[in-house]
Amino acid sequence: MKNIIVTGGAGFIGSNFVHYVVNNHPEVHVTVLDKLTYAGNRENLAGLPADRVELVVGDICDAPLVDSLVQKADAVVHYAAESHNDNSLKDPSPFIQTNIIGSYTLIEACRKYNVRYHHVSTDEVYGDLPLREDLPGHGEGVGEKFTPETRYNPSSPYSSSKASSDLLVRAWVRSFGLQATISNCSNNYGPYQHIEKFIPRQITNILSGIRPKLYGSGQNVRDWIHTNDHSSAVWAILTKGKIGETYLIGADGEQDNKAVLELMLELMGQPQDAYDQVKDRPGHDLRYAIDSTKLREELGWQPEFTDFKSGLQHTIDWYRKHEDWWQAEKAAVEANYAKSGQ
Ligand SMILES: NC(=O)c1ccc[n+]([C@@H]2O[C@H](COP(=O)([O-])OP(=O)(O)OC[C@H]3O[C@@H](n4cnc5c(N)ncnc54)[C@H](O)[C@@H]3O)[C@@H](O)[C@H]2O)c1
Repeated sequence: MKNIIVTGGAGFIGSNFVHYVVNNHPEVHVTVLDKLTYAGNRENLAGLPADRVELVVGDICDAPLVDSLVQKADAVVHYAAESHNDNSLKDPSPFIQTNIIGSYTLIEACRKYNVRYHHVSTDEVYGDLPLREDLPGHGEGVGEKFTPETRYNPSSPYSSSKASSDLLVRAWVRSFGLQATISNCSNNYGPYQHIEKFIPRQITNILSGIRPKLYGSGQNVRDWIHTNDHSSAVWAILTKGKIGETYLIGADGEQDNKAVLELMLELMGQPQDAYDQVKDRPGHDLRYAIDSTKLREELGWQPEFTDFKSGLQHTIDWYRKHEDWWQAEKAAVEANYAKSGQ
């Protein structure tokens, strides 16, 4: 695998994957295909060697462009997406366009040229789980975590558009022999995440002297994984995964939002109650939790960043050191949230 296309490689997780490939696989050349929407930033690729990484600014829905790039590639790793649930509730249309039509455009090109395709998706396609305290025996046993067999049951326009594209990939494998794998990962944290998202929004609120915000009571549980562990898992699936299979990626990082915010405040030297509770997201999923046994046992993958506290501290340090990366957008992001009382 010498030439890979990484769609959405100027966004949060995609750019971390590009850094991972450049640092760990010197034989690989990466072509990033990214539209540079509000969530994409060429600065996320700054400092990477020009002979190893090329940025093509373009849309994954642009079939002639996609065709011309895919025919020269050995593999496509597809990260590009509209990715923010709150935005999808305000206007679903770009989610339908990019997440469904864009994915369709890519798999058609990969089918035509028999190019290896890896589809990056989310655990949100499975809907949510009950909180542990609401489960019989407090969450020991059946239904405790998502597995590759869990029924799809997405809640939001975002997660349903991702679910739709996952199903297209499964059908293209079966009907056309597409050389594809799928991964569904839990919530990522780490550097380069857009400040509209929960963790960087609250870090940059605290750094800007704004009181952090917690949706509702903050009981909602997310299964946090450091983005570097997501990258190593995607690489393992791309190079060793079985065609047609789905792998769930998670690092046993369950935390409720209130605990994450309180830890963030503690690490940043603030009182633990120095935040405001705001209106909850409509349809807010209660709990996500991943069973990644298949990935660990079949492909030998292990997460490295299993200490959430130190991972969060590194992430806080990154935002502290990179104020120039986020400062210009902060006021507009907060003004947008203020419109919906959040
Ligand atoms: N953020 C998470 O916690 C998480 C968890 C699991 C899976 N995922 C999945 O990982 C992928 C990346 O998520 P992220 O958080 O890095 O998203 P992001 O919003 O930070 O980045 C998305 C990137 O895609 C680009 N893009 C958007 N529309 C495009 C189009 N039509 N053509 C080309 N490029 C386009 C944007 O410019 C941006 O660079 C998504 O597919 C998402 O569903 C995310």
